[in-house]
Amino acid sequence: MIAVRTEKLTKRFKKLTAVNAVSFEVNKGEIFGFLGPNGAGKTTTINMLSTLIAPTSGHAELEGYDIVKNRNGVRRSIGVVFQEPALDSRLTGRENLEFHAHMYGMRSGERKSRIAEVLALVELEDKASLMVNTFSGGMKRRLEIARGLMHRPAILFLDEPTLGLDTQTRRHIWDYVKKLNSETGITILLTTHYMEEADALSNRILILDHGRIVALDTPAQLKNVLGGDVIELSATGDTTSFAAKLQQEPWIQSAAVQEELVRLTLEKAETKVAAVVEAAVAGGLTLLSVNIRKPSLDDVFIHYTGKTIREENGDKPASRGKRGGHHDHG
Ligand SMILES: Nc1ncnc2c1ncn2[C@@H]1O[C@H](COP(=O)(O)OP(=O)(O)OP(=O)(O)O)[C@@H](O)[C@H]1O
Ligand SMILES: [Mg+2]
Repeated sequence: MIAVRTEKLTKRFKKLTAVNAVSFEVNKGEIFGFLGPNGAGKTTTINMLSTLIAPTSGHAELEGYDIVKNRNGVRRSIGVVFQEPALDSRLTGRENLEFHAHMYGMRSGERKSRIAEVLALVELEDKASLMVNTFSGGMKRRLEIARGLMHRPAILFLDEPTLGLDTQTRRHIWDYVKKLNSETGITILLTTHYMEEADALSNRILILDHGRIVALDTPAQLKNVLGGDVIELSATGDTTSFAAKLQQEPWIQSAAVQEELVRLTLEKAETKVAAVVEAAVAGGLTLLSVNIRKPSLDDVFIHYTGKTIREENGDKPASRGKRGGHHDHG
């Protein structure tokens, strides 16, 4: 059962191709994550799928409705929580929901019961009579999620649901999202540039970079691609030459450098640490630390794109992986 299907979906703004021939399918009931750095095209994709902007070319269907030919069908099927907060802070929590219900033409009886239902879902029943300007960031986000659920959409879009929230609040929001998905079976498309978030929530992750799909799989499979382990060295000296030299070794899958930090992906790292340290010393490096760990989604991103997800669009790429293409941002 397919909830969303896109085919070569493309959006150009003048010369910039923000979303470039993106094709994917989302299953019903899935939590599907869009992961990518700033400017990757996540919001633009969501904006096309939610019919806010028209694609330049390509197609997409949500719940069988075409995003261009049947926008009303699409709109009835979706709830959207925007990246930019969109609550009226001079109204109470409940009033914000009532306003939204009016816009959707909900009748009074249904309105009341739906509001009670969505408030319970995000555990804001007790706070609903307070003005939104007294809400914490996490409460506002939950209220926005509640609002997105008012008309019982089959699909919920969450664009950067925890942007700017502290770690603890972020984890709470993750719990609500998971609960919502498991209790109602709603399909969720979320965008994020937090790797842990994509990892914690998504059944599958689509990694976007410069408007293109660079990888699409389950978090576990994405990490498996990197083989066994990561050795991370922090060192002073010529880390670039050191990484370039190691890159030649058949047992190294990729070597990426960010200033003092060198990340190597390889199998059975514990059997190779000594050789890596020797090579570092022979290369004239002064080692500050060495650690072995399992790959994270950040490593996956580096592997495919040659840069970390934290480097904003326009930054100089400071590293490259063996299979990952070297990106020219110019
Ligand atoms: N209305 C617009 N006009 C021109 N360019 C735009 C417009 N909207 C987005 N862009 C550009 O398209 C690219 C993709 O932007 P988008 O907002 O989709 O990225 P994003 O992945 O959501 O990034 P972020 O993590 O910062 O939210 C960026 O280079 C952005 O500057
Ligand atoms: Mg965005």
